[in-house]
Amino acid sequence: MIIVYSLGGSILAGQDAAGLQSYADELKDIAREHQVYVVVGGGRIARDYIGRARALGSDESFCDLLGIAATRLNAMLLMAALGGRQPEVPDSYAMAMEHASLVDVVVMGGLYPGQTTDAVAALLAERVHADRMVIATSVDGVYTADPETDSSARKIESMSPAELVRMAMDTELKAGSRSPVDPIAAKIIERSGITTTVVHGQDISNLRKGFEGTHTGTKIVR
Ligand code: UTP
Repeated sequence: MIIVYSLGGSILAGQDAAGLQSYADELKDIAREHQVYVVVGGGRIARDYIGRARALGSDESFCDLLGIAATRLNAMLLMAALGGRQPEVPDSYAMAMEHASLVDVVVMGGLYPGQTTDAVAALLAERVHADRMVIATSVDGVYTADPETDSSARKIESMSPAELVRMAMDTELKAGSRSPVDPIAAKIIERSGITTTVVHGQDISNLRKGFEGTHTGTKIVR
């Protein structure tokens, strides 16, 4: 199978060296049988830098560029944990595809303003004809409402890409935004029809369960 991960920066950047090594080892293990690509998110550093730049009056696309830089920093950490054989963080899908002939696990970060790394992962998944996309993030699935502020929120076991698009369109597209996926990612998932799962990334076993289908997160399927 070809699997593309969107690995939340909040999951990865909070890890010490041993934690990073565990994620890298699990990804390498999965890559024994599958072609693996990982798009790393910005997490806390992205939010921190964006917050300060916004307070200083920066426009949203400049804030996005800061966020992209943070995703690329996090990507470099994962590349280090994977053994440092990938020459650089790809700045295009073409470069990511080229790197697949050099390393077992290809890592990349963000690319352009106006989206998040979920969109990068969805476009990469489309480009490489992935069988599965796994969004490993800081929540254990897609909820009907924000579970942190709404006690009636419940987890959605399975939903269609069209439903995901409706949900994503209702959330704010702002640098550092905290929605399950951004609208561009949702539209790409819809048009490509790639079976996607949203799982909690803090549990490393979800990296495998996410594509094997034994997870307790949300499945997005046509
Ligand atoms: P992400 O939103 O993708 O990482 O990028 P994340 O969501 O912080 O990771 P988790 O899941 O919450 O841990 C951070 C910010 O970087 C910019 C956006 O501003 C985004 O909110 N970004 C990222 C882009 O503008 N373009 C990209 O291709 C990627």
